[in-house]
Amino acid sequence: MPATTARSQPDACSLLESDHRKVKKMFKDYEELTKSRSRTATQQKRDLAQEICLELTVHAQIEEEIFYPALRAALKETDLLDEAEVEHASAKDLIAQIQDATEIDDKFDAKVTVLGEYIDHHVKEERNEIFTKARAAKKLDLIAMRDQLAMRKEELMEEMTVATA
Ligand SMILES: [Fe+2]
Ligand SMILES: [Fe+2]
Repeated sequence: MPATTARSQPDACSLLESDHRKVKKMFKDYEELTKSRSRTATQQKRDLAQEICLELTVHAQIEEEIFYPALRAALKETDLLDEAEVEHASAKDLIAQIQDATEIDDKFDAKVTVLGEYIDHHVKEERNEIFTKARAAKKLDLIAMRDQLAMRKEELMEEMTVATA
């Protein structure tokens, strides 16, 4: 396939980027809800926070299972991947605290806000450094990886939605 068409095709990074945009929007919606003290808002915050946790858990898992290992094999410099994995681990701690919380109070809001800031930072590093390096690595077939990520994502979404229903 000629390089010109290959470049315009959505790849693994575009899929991950669209997840990033989706959760960013969810964090924004959450922030809006924190302005209201109503009981409906509390219920909506509880649901939205759980949705954010699910999205992030699935996203982190497809990166860890498919994207990061492929990059690790293809890139010389893997420091960024080490950092990314450490960041995932800390995010998961916070996600677990949010999932286990019983009270939807100010402390809960703070946890979601901090998670949002944390993810924002992590996503910037992926976009500016990791994705750039991945796209420059000739050995990686990011177009094929996109399908792999999409399939695994669907599978995990189904598994985890059943598990929490
Ligand atoms: Fe990540
Ligand atoms: Fe990501």
